[in-house]
Amino acid sequence: MQKRLHKVVFPVAGLGTRFLPATKVVAKEMLPVLDRPLIQYAVDEAVDAGADTLVFVTNRYKHAIADYFDKAYELEAKLAESGKDALLELVRGTLPRGVRCVFVTQPEALGLGHAVLCARPVVGDEPFGVILPDDLIWTGKGAGALRQMAELSAQEDAGVIAVEEVPPEDTHKYGIVDATPISDRAAKIRLVVEKPKPAVAPSNLAIVGRYVLPGRIFELLEKTTPGAGGEIQLTDAIEMLLAEHPVLAYRFEGTRFDCGNKLGLVKATLHMALNDAQIGAATRELVNAAAKR
Ligand code: G1P
Repeated sequence: MQKRLHKVVFPVAGLGTRFLPATKVVAKEMLPVLDRPLIQYAVDEAVDAGADTLVFVTNRYKHAIADYFDKAYELEAKLAESGKDALLELVRGTLPRGVRCVFVTQPEALGLGHAVLCARPVVGDEPFGVILPDDLIWTGKGAGALRQMAELSAQEDAGVIAVEEVPPEDTHKYGIVDATPISDRAAKIRLVVEKPKPAVAPSNLAIVGRYVLPGRIFELLEKTTPGAGGEIQLTDAIEMLLAEHPVLAYRFEGTRFDCGNKLGLVKATLHMALNDAQIGAATRELVNAAAKR
């Protein structure tokens, strides 16, 4: 597989019910972590991995995502007129030059596997990345998680899935892998299972929202029947892929925040605030004062 991932898919058609009522009108992916929406962190990570084509699998309620990455003529003209160059750069920088967005609709919410399959006409049969924007992975100044995975994928000529250990009682929330270590961070997957109960889980190594997959996965997704939760699961297609193509589980370098729930979003926001040049010190004081109360 090539080192650079040209195409990255973002399944963003979820309803975001955990953030109602805000998500009545605001797409979950547009919720800010400090001053940037969740989707911006995901897009930056894709671009860091070499992406030039971003494929958003979306629905009719997610127009804000397209608007966000579109050129904001009036706003840009106003900022330019008033000499606010730094802000102008910020607004223009949401989508780097040479990167294009393609929007594909997922007409029915039939599961993550189905969402990824909707991207097939754009991706074709080349290797591609998948980022679930709910999982924000912070790597500071280091390579983004998807870049780390793209490099491993090229080196080993294998699919790569990001994993992290979770408390054993949480296995029912994730895809869980059983894998044989090949290095400190990588392991060859023998088995993947979607959301097993703790008693039957093969391990506590959980899939987090980053994948590097060969185009072949689309053919397998076509054959995938509804699995856990009655949905077409990406995990089930990956399980089929294992019979013909190596897939590695990879413990990325970085910190994951599950921004699909309130506490995770608060943790991510606090983390970014503590690391922010302008408000970091004040946030620390605030946290320390709260701890003393
Ligand atoms: C999806 C995948 C699951 C994975 C998880 C990571 O589940 O189906 O295998 O562990 O994302 O966030 P979801 O969170 O959409 O239910």
